[in-house]
Amino acid sequence: MFKKIHWRKMPAVLLVLACIFALTGCGGDGSGKRIVRIAHSQSETHPQHLGMLKFEEYVEGKLGDKYDIQIFPNELLGSTVKAIELTQTGAIDFAVAATANLETFADVYEIFSLPYLFVSEDAYHATMEDTDYMEKVYESTDVAGFRCVTWYNAGTRSFYATKPINTPADMKGMKIRVQQSPASIALVKAMGAAASPMSFGEVYTAIQQGVIDGAENNELALTNNKHGEVAKYYSYDKHQMIPDMLIGNVSFLNNLSAEERAIFEEAARLSTEVELEEWDKQLEEAKNIAMNDMGVEFIDVDIEPFREAALPLHDDMLERNPAIHDLYDHIQEINKQYGEGK
Ligand code: GCU
Repeated sequence: MFKKIHWRKMPAVLLVLACIFALTGCGGDGSGKRIVRIAHSQSETHPQHLGMLKFEEYVEGKLGDKYDIQIFPNELLGSTVKAIELTQTGAIDFAVAATANLETFADVYEIFSLPYLFVSEDAYHATMEDTDYMEKVYESTDVAGFRCVTWYNAGTRSFYATKPINTPADMKGMKIRVQQSPASIALVKAMGAAASPMSFGEVYTAIQQGVIDGAENNELALTNNKHGEVAKYYSYDKHQMIPDMLIGNVSFLNNLSAEERAIFEEAARLSTEVELEEWDKQLEEAKNIAMNDMGVEFIDVDIEPFREAALPLHDDMLERNPAIHDLYDHIQEINKQYGEGK
């Protein structure tokens, strides 16, 4: 099957994939079961991986004679962008992707990169758990060959760097890694810093080698991804809440029987339940480890100057991206209900 491939010209990721597929076959595992492959970029202790394990346990508990769920963590099959492509083509069946990575497939996803979109974590959760509304959003990538099946909490994002950041003025001249999303690039520029988009897996080395001065993410990036070893100042400006999405190949989902589909959907819902619980548990733990074992200083900044610098981005995006209007208004309604809650 692989006879004509020039192995030496093959990128490492494809090589790993080719070996996995060669060993296990494209769809079956030798026992006649259909292998279902899921890729994500986090470590095996991360809440998302634990959520995935629940997904595996539930599907195999119900349909174990037919499906073998295999999870590939740690960007093993490539960066998130690569994992999305593999899901699109059906080379794998599911992947976890930040909405920032989905912006190029459906304009509506750009909204989550808007800074200070949600007034509180409660408002954010209420929006994401409004499954009837979110179904419309989830369908938006069907044309691209994949669809979201559930969401995962990825916390609140703040800046962290090798030097302390107390105000946007401190960021002047700094180089900050952002996700590969135009809105996140605009955010960092609005703070007076230079934006350096790159994949998540490259961030540690880039900070370590001084290619960038810092990045922005949730607290788990300090511990699970070890960024706290190389960036010692984490400033709570709380600029974004960007969810992660479990995306599935549309043909795979459509070819499931109604009963199987319901089982996969329930597995997805349960994986979110586990992920959310684990997130809350691990967050405090991550802060303690970062502070006490890694020597990271957490800075409670005055958020106002950050918010002021970022707010013009709302009008900019609303003007150029009509696809976000409906969801933007929907979130404003939810924001009103949740006020300044948690
Ligand atoms: C978070 C998020 C990932 C994302 C990463 C990033 O860890 O959960 O999905 O890839 O941030 O900043 O790229």
